[in-house]
Amino acid sequence: MRILLYRGDGVIGPWARDFADALPQAEAVLWQEGQPVERCDYAVIWAPTPALLDQLKHVKAIFLMGAGVDALLKFGDALPDVPIVRLGDAGMAEQMAEYAAHAVLRYFRRFDEYERQARQGVWNPLSPRVKSEFTVGVLGLGKLGAQVARALRQLGFPVRGWSRTAKDLPGVECFTGMEALDDFLSGTQVLVSLLPLTPETNNLLDRARLSKLPQGAYLVNVARGAQVAEPDLLALIKSGHIAGATLDVFRNEPLPAPHPFWNEPRITITPHISALTLREEAVRQIADKIMLLERGETVADIVDLNRGY
Ligand SMILES: NC(=O)c1ccc[n+]([C@@H]2O[C@H](COP(=O)([O-])OP(=O)(O)OC[C@H]3O[C@@H](n4cnc5c(N)ncnc54)[C@H](OP(=O)(O)O)[C@@H]3O)[C@@H](O)[C@H]2O)c1
Repeated sequence: MRILLYRGDGVIGPWARDFADALPQAEAVLWQEGQPVERCDYAVIWAPTPALLDQLKHVKAIFLMGAGVDALLKFGDALPDVPIVRLGDAGMAEQMAEYAAHAVLRYFRRFDEYERQARQGVWNPLSPRVKSEFTVGVLGLGKLGAQVARALRQLGFPVRGWSRTAKDLPGVECFTGMEALDDFLSGTQVLVSLLPLTPETNNLLDRARLSKLPQGAYLVNVARGAQVAEPDLLALIKSGHIAGATLDVFRNEPLPAPHPFWNEPRITITPHISALTLREEAVRQIADKIMLLERGETVADIVDLNRGY
């Protein structure tokens, strides 16, 4: 069995070593731009280039080294007609819950304001917020969003969630579909996005939608940057309608040096680290799925091309 391995960042050696351990019967083939390789049975990839697509036509399945599928699905009609399998959780949901809990607690306990005060040498206790009024709204109740919603619930926050199809999560007020979005947003104090990037979610959070949030609300985006109309967010922060944002993802990454977000103290920036792929766990999961496919069985986490995630 031959497995093509490729990562856009070039850091592929450790993956090849882990696959050699997990599937000793398989030969790992490291693809490089401009170097066609012999036919492979499977491909395990991240951040593909157009030239890679040709190599993927004959594989039995393409495995992604992450949960987001937009970087592959953007090739549209040029995609090979083979199943695409995303990573299922593999330790990412726990990391997302940690990141979201940190951001929500920081805003709830007003640590962002205390940080700014401290930099100016100001000692000024602020009035505490009321937890029952500090509702967290989670966009997307999939593998990651559902766990984030659960974790915030456990911290005692009122939690609401929004998804495409109806959900029933204990303790979470669930909203479904575009027609419920405005209602969902109007009662959300901290908005956390865990939506996939699709044509429907691209620019979803524009001026009109973000304005539906109550005055003084916060945004935490850990999904994909293109879901947010960045100039609209900045304008709403400057006007005070949005009190602050914690952003892990951006329309262009790395966030370019002259981007105005860098100079806005109410925006907290992290470099796309909210949930990192844990390599050993990912390799174990992909190797298990390859063995299932080899036995003619089905696997979880196959991407639905019509839905776009
Ligand atoms: N920043 C990072 O480090 C990082 C790491 C991993 C993942 N991510 C991002 O997180 C995203 C979510 O991951 P996941 O594993 O939780 O995905 P998932 O299991 O596929 O869940 C996606 C959720 O979004 C909902 N959704 C999709 N389109 C929608 C629409 N148009 N309207 C309303 N709801 C919609 C889905 O609704 P249904 O349940 O009704 O289908 C589902 O609940 C990934 O796509 C990726 O972009 C970021």
